[in-house]
Amino acid sequence: MLKKTIVLASLTLLSSAAVHAEDLFDAEDAVKYRQSVYQIFSAQAGVIGGMIKGEIPFDAAEINKRATNIGKVAPMLGDTYFPATRDVKESKLKEAAWNNMADFQDKGKVFGKALGELITASSDPDFNIKSARKTAGALFKGCKGCHEDYRAK
Ligand code: HEC
Repeated sequence: MLKKTIVLASLTLLSSAAVHAEDLFDAEDAVKYRQSVYQIFSAQAGVIGGMIKGEIPFDAAEINKRATNIGKVAPMLGDTYFPATRDVKESKLKEAAWNNMADFQDKGKVFGKALGELITASSDPDFNIKSARKTAGALFKGCKGCHEDYRAK
């Protein structure tokens, strides 16, 4: 109970101080940071993809770990999407994302939901390659769905 109060108090403090990502990170660094988070996604997704394709021996615990890892770093992306990053040349984020921010965020939510479902499903003792194909397939659709509209080639 006491712990909860302390956490709540510190959260309130944070929001009243109103520290924004753009006060903390240089735009060019934020794009590198963003791309690094996506590289982490890619490394984890590569293992999951290898397993559902049968290239790596199937291991439910490993899929759960990889999906959980994505879930750990995904919230950091929030640090990196501030307007000054719009002008960074190295960024592949399409201008369309800024003009359709609600849709871009919806794509993130679809992805987040698929990720949550994969984390839950892969901790079930009945999780097998068939259920992995379905749940991980939905996750990969989430990656692709966003890239198609909002990531430049
Ligand atoms: C809601 C949108 C969205 C989702 C979901 C998403 N991405 Fe991306 N991804 C992007 C954008 C935008 C970029 C380009 C970022 C930039 O260069 O500023 C990107 C870039 C990347 C890159 C290139 C990073 C680099 O080094 O330049 C990889 C790899 C990647 N994503 C993998 C993934 C994987 C794997 C998933 C799913 C597990 C995923 N992404 C889900 C939007 C998304």
